[in-house]
Amino acid sequence: MLEHLSALPADPILGLLKAYGQDTNPNKVDLGVGVFKDDAGHTPILACVKTAEQFRIDNETSKIYIGPTGEPEFNRLISELVFGEHDVISQNRSRTLSTPGGTGALRVAGEFIKACKPNATIWLSNPTWANHEGLFSAAGLNIASYPYYDYENKCLDFDGMLSALSNVPAGDIVLLHACCHNPSGMDLTKEQWQQVTALAKEKGFTPLIDMAYQGFGQGLEEDAYGPRLMAKELDEVLLCTSCSKNFGLYRERIGGFTLVAKNSNVADIAYSVALSVVRSIYSMPPAHGAAIVSTILNSDELTGQWHQELAQMRDRIATNRQLLVEHLKLQGVERDFSFITRQSGMFSFLGITPEQVATLINDYSIYMVDSSRISIAGISKTNVEYLAQSIAKVIK
Ligand code: LMR
Repeated sequence: MLEHLSALPADPILGLLKAYGQDTNPNKVDLGVGVFKDDAGHTPILACVKTAEQFRIDNETSKIYIGPTGEPEFNRLISELVFGEHDVISQNRSRTLSTPGGTGALRVAGEFIKACKPNATIWLSNPTWANHEGLFSAAGLNIASYPYYDYENKCLDFDGMLSALSNVPAGDIVLLHACCHNPSGMDLTKEQWQQVTALAKEKGFTPLIDMAYQGFGQGLEEDAYGPRLMAKELDEVLLCTSCSKNFGLYRERIGGFTLVAKNSNVADIAYSVALSVVRSIYSMPPAHGAAIVSTILNSDELTGQWHQELAQMRDRIATNRQLLVEHLKLQGVERDFSFITRQSGMFSFLGITPEQVATLINDYSIYMVDSSRISIAGISKTNVEYLAQSIAKVIK
């Protein structure tokens, strides 16, 4: 069986981690994988996480199985974080289960959709996160795409998006990014969310919202505008959340899959289908990350500390956007990169060619995805001059 295999290329995002790690150039810059970094290039453990982790070590009394739902307290708290005080909660029409990270949530969503509707098509934004297509195809869904980013004008192609979505057949699924669109950094405005929601209502497609960056865009509440609106206006919404970025819990693999149904009865039935999907894949999610998040969100003091730490991460990314644009100007670059400051979250496209990206990697040890997506958190006061200088040389 194994002898006939051919080796697959490294994952376009995760492969960069390895290549960067093996590079011995002291000036190397990592703008690849979307992880927060401080000015020293380190991805720290949040102080609130450290405290919550110690609390868990001192207080955990059993490692008994937790079941396919994961920890109910985490599920309650994480859906409150997304929805706030929302009708969906008072009407008891949402159900959440914990998942192994946001990617696990997306795969559960894919398998759940397949179980509900075997011939479903999922519509992905063009572009979208590099792993979306692979994981939804692996779940057996048909893939289609709608225009999203206008590469030439470095902005949203909202007319193109609306016109494509108005042709989506009823019952299909449309994947939307709640905030911090990965990879373009272009988010929908409130008015645009309202228009897409009205279209979903009119055409009868179901939104699946990927919310991997709540709190990294404008703030915890602001970033939840789209999911809150859709859950209020529509009978059915699916939502995948992640605690990798906003709690810095990357390797603990903790996220959530939430389904919103027309009423509590339908939600119960749909939840039983989602739980059977989980049981047939990984049976039950890991518990450690969920316990950390629950400990933080159940403590006013730790929640306050988390809000501060999250704001610091968000502010640093916004500052880095300015820093890069200023330094490109200082290097005499005439091309207008100011769009980077108008985008939001962890990523933007530099808008350079794959060949120029390859030169930046091979000749300057500056790592990014070949679409020229850069992870803004990898910029620092120390590396920005070298970075801007190198980009200037390569695009000249
Ligand atoms: C990214 O897009 O870089 C992150 O979401 C990490 C990943 O798993 O790809």
